[in-house]
Amino acid sequence: MLKDRKFICENVSVNGEGHLCFSGVDVTTLAKRYGTPLYIMDESRIRDRCRIYRETLKKTFDGQAFAAYASKAASFKELYRIMASENMYIDVVSSGEIYTAAAAGFPMRNAFFHSNNKTDEDVRFAIENGVGYFVADNAEELKAIEREAEKAGIVQNVLLRITPGIDPHTFAAVTTGKVDSKFGSAIQTGQAKEITELALTKKHITLSGYHCHVGSQVFSVDVYTKTAEIMLNFIANIKSSLGFSAQILNLGGGFGVRYLPTDPEVDIEKNIIILSEKIKTSCAALGLKVPTIILEPGRSIVADAGMTVYTVGTVKKIPDFVNYVSVDGGMTDNVRYAMYKANYTLLTANKMNEALTMKANIAGRCCESGDVIQEHVPVPASIKRGDIIACLTTGAYNYSMASNYNRLPRPPIVMINNGESRIAVNRETFSDICALDV
Ligand SMILES: Cc1ncc(COP(=O)(O)O)c(C=O)c1O
Repeated sequence: MLKDRKFICENVSVNGEGHLCFSGVDVTTLAKRYGTPLYIMDESRIRDRCRIYRETLKKTFDGQAFAAYASKAASFKELYRIMASENMYIDVVSSGEIYTAAAAGFPMRNAFFHSNNKTDEDVRFAIENGVGYFVADNAEELKAIEREAEKAGIVQNVLLRITPGIDPHTFAAVTTGKVDSKFGSAIQTGQAKEITELALTKKHITLSGYHCHVGSQVFSVDVYTKTAEIMLNFIANIKSSLGFSAQILNLGGGFGVRYLPTDPEVDIEKNIIILSEKIKTSCAALGLKVPTIILEPGRSIVADAGMTVYTVGTVKKIPDFVNYVSVDGGMTDNVRYAMYKANYTLLTANKMNEALTMKANIAGRCCESGDVIQEHVPVPASIKRGDIIACLTTGAYNYSMASNYNRLPRPPIVMINNGESRIAVNRETFSDICALDV
């Protein structure tokens, strides 16, 4: 039965009119009310994911663990307000993210500042805004933090980013824990120990512990248990060789989400339980006190809480070759297929009960052949101008990677909660686009 279809996330359904619903709200109604292209975000799903991370970590590590939302996945004020009200920590990677979070009233002592190339201005800005923890990527950054902390007359908490040498077998472009990564200092080359020694000489730095992140879209908990084992061995070696006991171990983010029905579902709670058992056993074997554990999820907090809605413009059929359905958005609001062939599920929101007898490439409106959101998408043969297409699982790395290529304004973000909708980010206007032009 078409009506009993299961979708990749439980917040997606079909109503009696054969329209797609997101968190119970008719997507075509939202398209009419707010226009397209449109990002929609399901607040209850975001809060639910935060709660699962927060409560499971608290329970399994006896209160000595927490989650920091990796805000590069989606960064705008309302989301930082939600994170604050959910008692989440955050990770930020630029002065722009720091500015946005601080402007939203997020308590910046609960923020971790990443990136592999913090300028002196970034370091100063983060200190001025009271960022709780820096995650220093390299020796250069450590020196800059020491200089700026001394000027500000403070002692700054710092974690060191370490590359544990793990290849999580995901997209090469989002694999960051390997020895040859641009991020962090490798254990294998001895640089992780060297940077620890350097950090311990700094008077204006308190070395709180270590951070690592091995990749994104990771489905196997084994990647995390292996990473934790390597990191705990390193911590034990540092304790015996340098006498330094790490208080914090941040294991990064990366749990995968479902973009296609064939993607597995990650049971976050179960994975955290497995991980905590492994960490406790390893610590006992190494004679270590269990450090405070931090996880840094981005995608698994917001991805399936997001959907992008488009209106169909042209339908072009090239017999014996391919069909194109062009929509009013594209690589400007979702660059991930153009960038690394990321998978997505797309649905014709106003024709959910029609049979999908045709395949089409869903193309954007940019002057760029690579501007495709997804190829070979099943669509109803009746698809035509004015139909509404929804792309699922776009809450992460879509709005945050959006651009103004071809001077296209970025779509608004509408937050839905308990059947109500509200604007969280306004639609960009042409005058916004020209605001900096002289
Ligand atoms: C340092 C760090 N932490 C956390 C994340 C979040 O990863 P994900 O969104 O896959 O959970 C990333 C993503 O690239 C990252 O680089």
